[in-house]
Amino acid sequence: MAPRKVIIDCDPGQDDAVALFLAMSAPDELEVLGVTTVAGNVPLELTQRNTRMMCDIAGRPDMRVYAGCDKPMQLEAITAEYIHGNTGIDGVDVFDPETPLQETHAVDFIVETLRAAEEGTVTLVPTGPMTNIGTAIKRDPGILDAVDRIVSMGGAMREGGNRSPSAEFNVLVDPHAAEIVYNCGRPVTAMGLDVTHQVLSTRERVARIRGVGNKVADATADMLSFFHRYDTKKYGSEGAPLHDPCTVAWLLRPDLFETKVCNLSVETTSELTLGHTAVDFWHVTDRPHNVEWTYAVDAEGFYDLLVERLAWFGG
Ligand code: BDR
Ligand code: CA
Repeated sequence: MAPRKVIIDCDPGQDDAVALFLAMSAPDELEVLGVTTVAGNVPLELTQRNTRMMCDIAGRPDMRVYAGCDKPMQLEAITAEYIHGNTGIDGVDVFDPETPLQETHAVDFIVETLRAAEEGTVTLVPTGPMTNIGTAIKRDPGILDAVDRIVSMGGAMREGGNRSPSAEFNVLVDPHAAEIVYNCGRPVTAMGLDVTHQVLSTRERVARIRGVGNKVADATADMLSFFHRYDTKKYGSEGAPLHDPCTVAWLLRPDLFETKVCNLSVETTSELTLGHTAVDFWHVTDRPHNVEWTYAVDAEGFYDLLVERLAWFGG
């Protein structure tokens, strides 16, 4: 079977970086048409640079990386240096990457690529605030014909919020974009905190990753060793949730996840609960079923997959 065509839209972020590694480790399954970057965990200047660094580390300076929106559709930007460090990818040393930044704006790239693609052939994978994709859909809703599926990291039901008491970071930063994406009418598989909080980067798991013994695995272990600090203190857990790689893991091994089709609605007005995702898991409303909500994952299987894929990069 031909590899599935994907566009990854991200804001690295250590966990975005691991999602990129996972995607680049699977050329038989995934053809990465481009990586678009957005302001999120850190400002756009850093997310695009960090993405290009990860392509260098993975030995893929041929990847096409685009810079997109530098702030949310309607709100002011919120960043998360307190989790990811000032670089966004603290844990690895910053360098000037060889992977070039494409001149085209990420939103133009998304629109042009989808316009040129055949019906239902491209999967969008947002792992940051969904500003680029929301803007592209708003500009040209016809592009949705080319979308096979959207696999997002964004939202929470049982876990509550991580950046506010009731909102997950990616949706909180740009709830208006998330609302467009989740209601776009194409199939959406949504990874929220309910599932990402089940894949903790425990000491043993990070040690297994380091044991792989190549450049990409070392960078992953280095970043995760930094990344876990904030969350282990906050949650009293043994490791940090590895949010964004859940998206790519689902594309590679959907059998590792349990999902339910239901409605997800985004709160865009309330000051108190802005960015909350109201997931109608028990179908108590007659709102349209717009997402496949992911609620459970085989965490051991997830880390087995990650270790196996990181080993793909060689010794
Ligand atoms: C999401 O927010 C960011 O901090 C992570 O990269 C992830 O995409 C989790 O809420
Ligand atoms: Ca992210």
